[in-house]
Amino acid sequence: MSRKPLIAGNWKMNMTPAESVVLSQGISNRYSRGWNKVDVVLCPPTIDLRSVYTVLDFDKSNIDVGAQNCHWEPSGAYTGETSIPMLQDVGANWCIVGHSERREYFGETDSMVNKKVRALAEAGLNAIVCVGESLAVRDAGEASRFVCDQVRAALAGLDAAEAAFATIAYEPIWAIGTGRTATPEQAEEIAAAIRATVADLVGEQAASAMRVLYGGSMKPANADGFLECPDIDGGLIGGASLKVEDFTALVEIAAKHAE
Ligand code: 13P
Repeated sequence: MSRKPLIAGNWKMNMTPAESVVLSQGISNRYSRGWNKVDVVLCPPTIDLRSVYTVLDFDKSNIDVGAQNCHWEPSGAYTGETSIPMLQDVGANWCIVGHSERREYFGETDSMVNKKVRALAEAGLNAIVCVGESLAVRDAGEASRFVCDQVRAALAGLDAAEAAFATIAYEPIWAIGTGRTATPEQAEEIAAAIRATVADLVGEQAASAMRVLYGGSMKPANADGFLECPDIDGGLIGGASLKVEDFTALVEIAAKHAE
């Protein structure tokens, strides 16, 4: 099955609302017809979502907006949290879940990730579910087992229709923000193992439709190697998503691979 490439920008905790308008406008200005071959999602900080959505909606550019986190309850006494209905209200139709920075710095567990993925599917939002091993786990030869366990936990209890709202992003922790990338062979090996795990959970058809992304120091200079891999369908981009030139170049490269 051929899957449409997806390039998603995770801005992390960068860009004020004013700066987010400039960056999203810069990206939108480069929008060209070839971009129809790629799904493009910008994931700014929560406070920027409305301004980024307004820019993209005004330009009618087909670029989607996503959050970087959500709570699984629709409302309630959860100080500092943002619900899925709130995200929908400001135009977000994607949400990153279980990023390694959230797991490491904010104590996000597999069980919380699963609750978020289920709540997003129920609300009809697309989840980008992040998985990835530390260097210690890789060096112990446990990368594939560790990552596939994370996938099982994240998708637990979902049927094939609900799983259709999920995209998996393989982000080896040792490659995030370090300038050190996995090799395309290493990334493909894990992406294929992820797809086999998804097939085991929700069936071959759902697995062959599901997109698996690579993330970790991906940039225009190294993107071709990843996007050529049969089980890698795009990228979750951190640092390079904050530069108009780099991010738009990555979309162009993905569009070329979609041809
Ligand atoms: P970098 O592209 O900065 O390595 O970040 C990757 C990432 O964590 C995207 O979610």
